[in-house]
Amino acid sequence: MRKRMPIFAANWKMYKTFGETAKFIDEFKTNFKAFDKNKVEAVICPPYTSLFKAAEKLAGTCFSLGAQNMNFEKEGAFTGEIAPAMLLEFGVKYVIIGHSERRAYYNETDESVNKKLKFVLANDMVPILCVGETIEEREAGKTESKILGQLKADFAGIGEADAEKIVIAYEPIWAIGTGKNATSKDAVDVVNFIRKTMSEIYSKPLSEKVRVQYGGSVKPENIAEYMKDETIDGALIGGASLDPAKFIKICESVL
Ligand code: PGA
Repeated sequence: MRKRMPIFAANWKMYKTFGETAKFIDEFKTNFKAFDKNKVEAVICPPYTSLFKAAEKLAGTCFSLGAQNMNFEKEGAFTGEIAPAMLLEFGVKYVIIGHSERRAYYNETDESVNKKLKFVLANDMVPILCVGETIEEREAGKTESKILGQLKADFAGIGEADAEKIVIAYEPIWAIGTGKNATSKDAVDVVNFIRKTMSEIYSKPLSEKVRVQYGGSVKPENIAEYMKDETIDGALIGGASLDPAKFIKICESVL
């Protein structure tokens, strides 16, 4: 019996139109046996334009809905941005915050990530916070200092009761979309370091409650390696989550 409920989240990034979303979920629904919600949590994070369709099609299933980003303002003149009320209207439960692609291409900083985390929590949704190092940082032995800096800054001013709700995704940037996944030992080492850091920032009980995923080239063939060590509580999946059969297999790895 695992200490924490495993969570697998599909990050579709900028893939799948409205029609493709409907097709994916239809295929999905005919092929999976309903997961026991007490054993695994599965989340689909489509693009905003597919949220409506995904919400409609996932209603009554064991899948939750997630978004890939959110603004830290309630509403206003922010062209191209998305507000919490717009996500809540579709029943969005999870919001990915601080993905490395947003940090790299859209100037997201730990400061904006911190504001977004607080705003997601204030709106009763659950952030999936991404942290991770570049290949240069890993090779220079700076993985832990990078993660430590991100966690300290991203969790600044967030109380313990809120912090324990946040799902942390350890995503080494060099493993994302490259097919070059981290070894399970490397992933476990960093996840243990994340727990140690959370225990220093907050408390030992919190570090044992907080869920930490691995992300980066996860696929049906390698998920079991990560999940066999109960330190890792699931995965954030990009490429492989675009194929319904693969995403189902990944979710079923803990059943
Ligand atoms: P990947 O992406 O599974 O395609 O490597 C993971 C992610 O970006 O969350």
